[in-house]
Amino acid sequence: MLSGKTILLGVTGGIAAYKSVEIVSRLRKQGAEVYVVMTKAATEFVTPLTFRSMSANPVYTSLFEEPKTWNIEHISLAEQVDASLIAPATANILAKMVTGISDDFLSTVLLAVRTPIFVAPAMNHAMYHHPATQKNLEILRERDIRIIGPAQGFQACGSEGDGRMSEPQDIINVLEDYFSQSRQNRYMSGKKVLVTAGGTREPIDPVRYIGNFSTGKMGYAVAQAFAEAGAQVTLVSAPSEIAVPSGVEVVSISTAEEMYTEVLRRFPEQDIVIKAAAVADYRPVVRETQKMKKSNQSVRLELVPNPDILTTLGQKKQEQFLVGFAAETQNPLDNGWEKMKRKKADILIVNDVTLPGAGFGTDTNIVTFLFADGRRRDLPQMSKLEIARQLVEEIAHLKSKTKE
Ligand code: CTP
Repeated sequence: MLSGKTILLGVTGGIAAYKSVEIVSRLRKQGAEVYVVMTKAATEFVTPLTFRSMSANPVYTSLFEEPKTWNIEHISLAEQVDASLIAPATANILAKMVTGISDDFLSTVLLAVRTPIFVAPAMNHAMYHHPATQKNLEILRERDIRIIGPAQGFQACGSEGDGRMSEPQDIINVLEDYFSQSRQNRYMSGKKVLVTAGGTREPIDPVRYIGNFSTGKMGYAVAQAFAEAGAQVTLVSAPSEIAVPSGVEVVSISTAEEMYTEVLRRFPEQDIVIKAAAVADYRPVVRETQKMKKSNQSVRLELVPNPDILTTLGQKKQEQFLVGFAAETQNPLDNGWEKMKRKKADILIVNDVTLPGAGFGTDTNIVTFLFADGRRRDLPQMSKLEIARQLVEEIAHLKSKTKE
């Protein structure tokens, strides 16, 4: 979520300033660019050098020191950032933000930023509950400034109660939620997306079936990523242990034929269909009504082909955008291109399920996106959810190009 984002971290003078070093570290680990701005009081608690080392960027402490770039720094910094976080935020900075006082770098830059501001207050319990502080927080909330915490507990001054700065990870979670929401606004709102997931089960008798090793992880991650991006998601799922992502409607099926029926029925109203399910290619001709009894003879099981759902969708599609997956054990790219053409997919995601860190049941995958226009994109090993988010972005990008 935070990868590629530029975050301004304002540090004001409180003992919790030492925890902000961890915030910088966590933000950077997630791929964010961090610029730290410290008030003079903050530098009494932690040195600018610490933040400079952690952020790998200049640390801003004064409006009047030797410029680090050619332009007016507080304005150029304000224009670059995707979000600002003040952590810890003292009663003093809250009051300055309310009144618009700009007597140091941080309070000045905060007047110039046009992107969201988050504040994590940290102060003595009594100061936090003072009517002036409470009123200031109320005014900031009305201006759409997001207040994180404070948390409860033991305070450095010896008292107990609310006023502690929220834990770094809790603060990061709020930022992540914000950026996932903003993706939502940008990408898929109003779109209907159908995702299939899991391995179908083809019954032999009441207690046995032919199945495969698919767990549904990839398909559930795809459903989550589209839901995060604001789509109305229907997940047609074979049996799976995985929790249904919030906001996703589930249609539970078991066999390939059931999946075929449920997907085809819903297909006309969909904008996008992602076929992540591992569909059994064959089913037993006969489904025994009673449990087959053991004997010493070998058994022959006659199988008939199942309908190919993706191929049928490819034949019937009007405006719908179709994505298929191909799990391969050899020649993944050649097989992938061939499958893509045969099934008329707009994107085909190929993975070699024999590689460590890829395939069934793992949290990560190593995939290549093949596009109908002949392009291909190799992704490094990453979580299935991150792959799903990349897919959302690719489709959003392609759809916005076709609109232009
Ligand atoms: N698929 C489908 N219906 C089937 C079989 C597969 O919709 N009966 C879809 C899968 O959901 C996947 C894509 O087709 O998106 C490719 O599946 P895969 O099993 O890799 O390909 P197959 O066509 O079954 O080819 P093969 O088993 O020969 O590799």
